[in-house]
Amino acid sequence: MKQLAVFNQKGGVGKTTTALNLGAGLARRGHDVLLLDLDPQAHMTSVMEHAPRDVAASIFAFYRDNRPLHELEIAWPGIGHLVPAHTELIKVDSLFGKGPNILNRLNSGLTALRERHNERIAIIDCCPFLGVLSLNAVFAADCLIVPVSSDFLSLRGAQQIEHTLKVLEPVLKRRVERRYLLTRFDKRRKMSFEIQGKMRALFGDDLCETVISENVAVAEAPAVYKDVFAHAADSRGAQDYAALIEELSADGFFFNGRSD
Ligand SMILES: Nc1ncnc2c1ncn2[C@@H]1O[C@H](COP(=O)(O)OP(=O)(O)OP(=O)(O)O)[C@@H](O)[C@H]1O
Ligand SMILES: [Mg+2]
Repeated sequence: MKQLAVFNQKGGVGKTTTALNLGAGLARRGHDVLLLDLDPQAHMTSVMEHAPRDVAASIFAFYRDNRPLHELEIAWPGIGHLVPAHTELIKVDSLFGKGPNILNRLNSGLTALRERHNERIAIIDCCPFLGVLSLNAVFAADCLIVPVSSDFLSLRGAQQIEHTLKVLEPVLKRRVERRYLLTRFDKRRKMSFEIQGKMRALFGDDLCETVISENVAVAEAPAVYKDVFAHAADSRGAQDYAALIEELSADGFFFNGRSD
């Protein structure tokens, strides 16, 4: 099983959108996909029609009651499975932040799940702040996708993330494979290309060649409980996410990294 986190402490950069559409695109290629919503905002969960609203059915029950993840995952037709979130997740920091091994908690849960589903890709949608939940995702991740919206504040945020990862790596005792992904890219704006140039200079091959364009179908799809492929298969957004999966598959990103 591969464990991938979509991570950025900055809000609104396209984490949930990317986790959802990567998952949906990989499922369309025949992969067994599990999405984990690790955000108290529960945006990913809200995209699933009729998702459970009960806190006992959410990933909070994994933290609070030690419920194994396999008991919490639910089928998401067309995508695979989802472990839903709940607003109560906001309490994880204050309730468990000082507990032993808390940073490895999610990794332990996923290790148990790995014994059941070795061929899976687990995609974790992170929240926009750096606390126990986000660190759980980074500690559990074989690889990270860092969406960066194509503006200057997001560029600064990406530099902060690189700094955070460089501080964490000696603790983790491994390099966390990562790819920065430009989102909300607008080819009509000079700024988008300027940001791309600066990102390339900063991150080299860790920046994806593919960019995700600003695209209305991408933004509309969650409103009708769909990923972009199900909502508008011919849209620019669907093409971009398909190209991203091609690019990452071709360079072994999904299936290299820490071994099982
Ligand atoms: N490529 C795109 N084109 C148009 N709109 C987009 C695109 N990507 C994301 N959006 C829109 O931007 C907003 C923020 O996206 P999203 O929720 O994925 O970001 P996020 O990083 O998960 O946010 P948060 O930090 O709050 O979890 C949403 O309304 C989403 O529909
Ligand atoms: Mg989100």
